[in-house]
Order: sequence, then C-alpha cells, then structure tokens
Amino acid sequence: MSTNWSHLVTEMPDLLAPSMAKDHPNLPVVKAEGCYYYGLDGKQYLDFTSGIATANTGHRHPKVVEAIKNGADHLMHGPSGVIMYESILKLSKELAQVLPGDLDCFFFANSGTEAIEGAIKLAKHVTKRPYVVSFIGCFHGRSLGALSVTTSKSKYRKFLQPNGLSYQVPYADVKSCPSGMDPETYVIGKLEKDFETLFNHQVTPEEVACMIVEPVLGEGGYIVPPKGWLKRIREICDRHGILLIFDEVQTGFGRTGEWFAAQTFDVTPDIMAIAKGIASGLPLSATVASKELMKQWPLGSHGTTFGGNPIACEAALATIAVLKEEKLVKNSKNMGAYAYERLKVLQQDSPVIGSIRALGLMIGIEIVDPLTGKPDGNGLMAILDKCLEKGVLFYLCGNHGEVIRMIPPLTVNKEQIDHGLSVLEEAVLEYQNELHLQLSGSYQNV
Ligand SMILES: Cc1ncc(COP(=O)(O)O)c(C=O)c1O
Repeated sequence: MSTNWSHLVTEMPDLLAPSMAKDHPNLPVVKAEGCYYYGLDGKQYLDFTSGIATANTGHRHPKVVEAIKNGADHLMHGPSGVIMYESILKLSKELAQVLPGDLDCFFFANSGTEAIEGAIKLAKHVTKRPYVVSFIGCFHGRSLGALSVTTSKSKYRKFLQPNGLSYQVPYADVKSCPSGMDPETYVIGKLEKDFETLFNHQVTPEEVACMIVEPVLGEGGYIVPPKGWLKRIREICDRHGILLIFDEVQTGFGRTGEWFAAQTFDVTPDIMAIAKGIASGLPLSATVASKELMKQWPLGSHGTTFGGNPIACEAALATIAVLKEEKLVKNSKNMGAYAYERLKVLQQDSPVIGSIRALGLMIGIEIVDPLTGKPDGNGLMAILDKCLEKGVLFYLCGNHGEVIRMIPPLTVNKEQIDHGLSVLEEAVLEYQNELHLQLSGSYQNV
C-alpha cells in the first residue's frame, strides 16, 4: 500500500463537486480507530466530531467490524422488497425495543434525508392533507423534498424554489425571554401565538398533514428547547389531528443521554426519522411509525433498491449490542455532564464564550465577539484551527458558523474529555490574547 497520500490534497478538489461543503477540519486521514483519526503525517487526532455524530460506538469498533465481515461472507445485497433475510427482521425487533411508545414498524433507507422524505410521504398518505409545518433553523437534509422543510441556512434553498407546500414557525428562542420571566412559559406562549397567526392567516390546521421538528436544534446551532415546548407541540398536533414527526437523525442512538431525545423530553412522536449513529458509519436509516400508521401507507407507494442493506443491518445489530454491553447511553449522560461542568468553568474566564448548550454528548459552545456579544464565526475558526494544530478535532454549527460542536464518540472517557478540553482552553486563551493585542494595537493607532 502506498504511503504517499499527498495526492488526496492535490487531486480531490478537482474531482469532487465543489458544492460539497469543505467544512473544518477537512483533514486528510489514512485511518480511524476508537476516538482517534490518524492523519497523513502519521499524527493522532482526538476526534470530537464522530464523523458528524455517527461513530457513536467509536471508529471501527471491533465487534462492528466483525459483524460487517461476517455479513459480507453471507449476503451483500437484498433488496429488501424482493428478498427476505434474517438481519433486517432481527434489527426491526431490536430497534422496537429501544424506541419509545409503539414505534415498531420500519421503512429502511440509506440516509437521514431519505428517512425524512419517507416520514413526510407517510404523513401525507395517512392524513390525505397537503401541507407540512417545520421550524425555522432546523436541518432535515438537502433533497428537494427535505429542503422544503430545511431552513438552517437560506443558501441551501437558493434557486431551488422548494415546493410551496410547507410553512415555517420559529424554533424555541429562550434568549429573547424578557428578564424576570420564566423562559419555558415564555417560549410556550410564543409558540401558541405563532400557531394562532399561522392557522388564522396562512393555512387552516385541517390542511396540515404533519409538523416536523428536531427535538434539539442541530446544524442550526445546538439549541436545547425547554421540555414543555416540545410537549406543547405534541398537544397542538393532537388538537388538530396533525401527525408529529421527530427528526432524530442526529439526536438518536444515545447522543442526548437516552436512546432517543423523545425519551429525554418524554414526548413520543407519531413518526420518527433515524440514521447517523444507527450502523456506526455504514449507510442506513429508517422511517419509523406504529404498525397501525404504517398499514395506511399503500402497497407500492414507496420503495428502495439499497435501503436496509444486509451488511448495514448486521452493523446496526452490532452497534445496538455494543451500546448496551458497554453502557454507552449512560456514558453519554455522565461524560456529557462532566464536560459541561468543565466548560462552565472555562466560560467564566473567557469573554469569547457565549452560552453553552448541552444534552448528553451533544454539546454546543457559542463563540461571540467579546465587545459586541455578537456571534463570531471568524473567531470560532481561529480557535478550531488552533485545536487542529494541537491534535484535537471539533466541528461547527450555527447560522453564522459560530457554535463549536463537541460530539465525541459515546465511548469517550474522562481522560480524553480532559485532554480535549485542556486543548480547547489553551486555544481559547491564545485567541483571546491575540484579540487583546489587536485591540490594544488599534487603540495605540488612534
Ligand atoms: C437532524 C438531521 N436531519 C437530517 C440530516 C440529513 O442526513 P443525511 O446527511 O444522512 O442525508 C442530518 C444530517 O446532518 C441531520 O443532522
């Protein structure tokens, strides 16, 4: 095997479509294992990105790798609509056990976006209603159907004229809560008002098939809504016979400290979209609902060639087993709480750190301009570049790219959290010192 990988850096930009975001860290790697990536230079990088919240069991967990190898020895392709095989059946049963409520019937696909498409199609078939309501700032994927409900960034929708059959209402915004008022009461009151306006002026509730929401805002900036806000959305749906879809593509499989955020918030949706962590990195996703609901989706109205691939199903079965055996859901809650406490201490001495939002190992650290308090995407990039140099990878999110996304594999331990956060602390301090110098320099020039 060639050890000269520099052609990756020179050739890839020419051969891959530039539309694909080249997000930080855009690092050429040769290997990944556990909580680490290994770069071209042979350097080890502590990975707090998990391949965007996907490698929940760590990279290449030996049990997952073994399941994939065994799977390939038996059956590499179904398709699930034409051939029957054991792994897809076993997986459905295993998933039904860890999902909330009566979510026990599955349409398997390959990506989060496809699971969302399936969820919306199912809701429209069941209700025979045309419209969908989504929440501003949420990300649900980039296909044309998913884009009709994705509003995390307007550039994703540019020139595409997403179909007009969706309406948007604001996500929970506790930041604008007037002082002295309870934030939960505030966002619930605002939600009721927003829906009153929507239903009185734009669309009648009888025409709305479903509402789709990320229980924790992901790409839009890692915002954790108060429990009561999601509960009230459930109530509004029930009031009007509207189906509730949770997009748990990112929040699922232990990320928020429970198997799913639905359990964290104690709100059960009618339909759920799951993906990312489901198969530790192999492409697999599912639209999930109760059998009763799924039965109303007419024969042949949806299908797939690759969805529910047998090897991906084997990987998912091994993933669930590892999450259970190694108690990784609990570890997510404990390590998340530990990291949050350390970050709160760092925040006290760091004027560039705005708010910290965390649920399990889904942690957002907002970077702000210390003078104006405004989101500072450039500052974030300077900090992440320093972390990269020091061998620790973080990702980013937020409308202005101003929120550090800390999403380590759920296998992460205290020492790794301590190391990663010490590096972040150093990077923040260095950046603050540079800012201070710049500011004092500009005062001298006045
Ligand atoms: C909440 C959420 N929904 C949907 C998607 C789309 O998933 P995919 O990229 O697998 O199509 C993502 C991807 O980041 C996501 O975070």
